[in-house]
Amino acid sequence: MDSRLFIQNLKKPQNFHDLFEKKQDLILDLGSGMGEFVIELAQSQPQFNYICVEKRMPRARAIVQRYEKRNLTNIIVIQTRFEWLIPHCFFNNHFHTIYLNFPDPWLKAKYSSKRSMTPQFLDYLSAALIPNGNFHFATDVDEYAEFGLNLLEDHPKFKNMLGEKIISKTPPEIQKTLFYYHAQKDNIDSNFIHFQKVK
Ligand SMILES: C[S@@+](CC[C@H](N)C(=O)[O-])C[C@H]1O[C@@H](n2cnc3c(N)ncnc32)[C@H](O)[C@@H]1O
Repeated sequence: MDSRLFIQNLKKPQNFHDLFEKKQDLILDLGSGMGEFVIELAQSQPQFNYICVEKRMPRARAIVQRYEKRNLTNIIVIQTRFEWLIPHCFFNNHFHTIYLNFPDPWLKAKYSSKRSMTPQFLDYLSAALIPNGNFHFATDVDEYAEFGLNLLEDHPKFKNMLGEKIISKTPPEIQKTLFYYHAQKDNIDSNFIHFQKVK
């Protein structure tokens, strides 16, 4: 498999550890955009390996260009829709941390069923995370944050690391992503949610 960029129909569970030179804990970034966030993370926390999932080819290519320029060997990009990948391709107990930063909020009621955050999506994520693995969700849409928070609070496999019903308006320093800055420029507060998988 091409470890720099692969576009594929992965249909069975993969051992993603095998794709990296060094065996290290895995971090998954869903909807990576052009990779600004994950590149910074991979540089500041080289003790992890990173998998980006981005559906748009030009953005996936931009991530590859960025990490090749920096000679980073701890990032891989998968160009696909994460909802196609996650149910079929992930081993259980595989990821240390999963990020879903500023996903499309699908604000209009008639499109709300397209939102990524669903009870089934959280079932898949909890299965893919190691025990005590982290799930970080960020959005600049308050209603989506509340919606996600309620789904997570109701899920038996997750606990809120910020305290019951708590959403932070202050990003962890490392989680200031491109879309966080876009929202900030428009004077819109963002919401940061951190849950852990319970054993
Ligand atoms: C609003 S941007 C956020 C980018 C980045 N996470 C950030 O916070 O700056 C959402 C990104 O997710 C990608 N995306 C949306 N739905 C996706 C899906 N189902 N699978 C993979 N990528 C997706 C979009 O192409 C876009 O690059």
